[in-house]
Amino acid sequence: MHIVHVTAEMAPIAKVGGLGDVVTGLARACLSRGHTVHIMLPFYECIQKHQINDLTLITTYNSYHDGNWIPTNAYHGVVSGIPVIFLEPSCQFFKGRQVYGGSYNELEAYMFFSRACLEWMQVTGTQPDIIHVHEWQAGALPILYWDMYHHLSLKNPRIVLTIHNMEHYGECRQEQLSMCGLDGSLYATFDKAVDDRTVGHNPERLSLLKGGIVYSNAVVTVSPTYLKETLCSGWLSSTLMRNRDKYFGIVNGIDTTMWNPSTDVFLPSKFNVKNSEGKKLCKYYVQRGLGLASGDHVTDTTLKVPLVVCITRLVAQKGLHLITHAIKQVEELGGQMVVLGKAPDHRVEREFEDLADSLNQGPSIRILLMYSEELSHLLYAAADIVLVPSMYEPCGLAQMIGMRYGAVPVVRKTGGLADTVFDMDDESNHEMANGFVFEGMDEASLNCALDRAFACYRNKPGEWNCIVKKVMKMDNSWNNTARKYIEIYESVTAS
Ligand code: ADP
Ligand code: GLC
Repeated sequence: MHIVHVTAEMAPIAKVGGLGDVVTGLARACLSRGHTVHIMLPFYECIQKHQINDLTLITTYNSYHDGNWIPTNAYHGVVSGIPVIFLEPSCQFFKGRQVYGGSYNELEAYMFFSRACLEWMQVTGTQPDIIHVHEWQAGALPILYWDMYHHLSLKNPRIVLTIHNMEHYGECRQEQLSMCGLDGSLYATFDKAVDDRTVGHNPERLSLLKGGIVYSNAVVTVSPTYLKETLCSGWLSSTLMRNRDKYFGIVNGIDTTMWNPSTDVFLPSKFNVKNSEGKKLCKYYVQRGLGLASGDHVTDTTLKVPLVVCITRLVAQKGLHLITHAIKQVEELGGQMVVLGKAPDHRVEREFEDLADSLNQGPSIRILLMYSEELSHLLYAAADIVLVPSMYEPCGLAQMIGMRYGAVPVVRKTGGLADTVFDMDDESNHEMANGFVFEGMDEASLNCALDRAFACYRNKPGEWNCIVKKVMKMDNSWNNTARKYIEIYESVTAS
């Protein structure tokens, strides 16, 4: 099968969060099963070209935007062994120092990108069996395909949409939708009988994500629990309900080549489930490097004090009030905690900066307000506990990556966290138990889970080591997940 992913992110060259990891991991897994795979990505100005192998200009063609035809370069390159097509329009789209939030209008830029991908397929005679679109950014593609491309030279590709986060749904006005060549007024209907078109949350607006749901052959979200949650609440629930027979929930995998403590180039010392000495060294290295209290060598304070890490985008979804509360609670419990986070919102950034100013000089807490791939690897490796207190979490990769590096998860029971972490004290599910889970959104609920984790770490080292070994042995790789996606690809191509 030939699968083409259309996406705004790809790890490691254009990654903001889990979307980038998932696209790269799934593409690699399908390649290794003998499928032909391409990833189509905007050629963001911030991409570091030295991370791309064999970068070659393959064609320059014109792509439509708002009454104009924009000369667009299409490059081919290889990233982490995966063939990538980079589209570089000659206008301002995708300029700037970061993936999102550059100086351009995001909505217009991604609608342009969606159409430019279809145009590239047409110009080059590319005939994918599956066009796999991700998130609202590629949501215009299925609409464009059915509106204007299906009768052109593309030979009936099937379209699969993965929704990674329903909170972002690409709200746009009729006139904006028209910029990519669609007749916006056709999609803005308030007629209940046909409200399966693209009309959005705000009745004056349209939603690209909703369009993607309606016009794709299959829709996948990133965990079964999130699927249930989205069918029961949120303004897209009725659309999803109406499309229930083509809506699936598949838990993400993690890329076990990229996330592998026994080969990880960012670690000062490698380790694996049979030999965890390297993990102790990583913890000591982080404690020394960040100036956290540590003994003179690996065996004393290093091991007595549990180290909690929280690696996350600092946005409301991630439970900001619980993260700040955990910092105080961990300090009170005599543990250590490192937060590695980036806040897209300046107000949140300032709050965390103030917190960092007041705590970063002490012996037990470090708040690092930045995005750093290298540091994230090091922190997962050093951690005893990985904290994910999200308000909602479509899937969540941090808990799975943490587990692979021997960090025991403490998570809130929601979305994909509920599908991947099971409480140690749940007598009815001892076989699956692999972490500490809480349900409430309040501080007391979090305290209860953290207290239990700390008590186990300190008072039952034997039991703790068993959990560490268990989580390191878990298979959260793309093996199962890729198989489920391929089943969906096969079923939509057969129908
Ligand atoms: P989301 O996609 O909602 O951000 P996930 O848990 O699915 O959440 O994926 C987050 C990914 O981004 C993980 O690979 C995590 O390690 C990484 N990440 C998040 N924040 C940072 C950061 N500040 N520095 C480095 N990596 C980060
Ligand atoms: C989104 C979700 C996260 C998920 C990731 C990859 O960013 O917030 O839960 O793991 O996408 O699918």
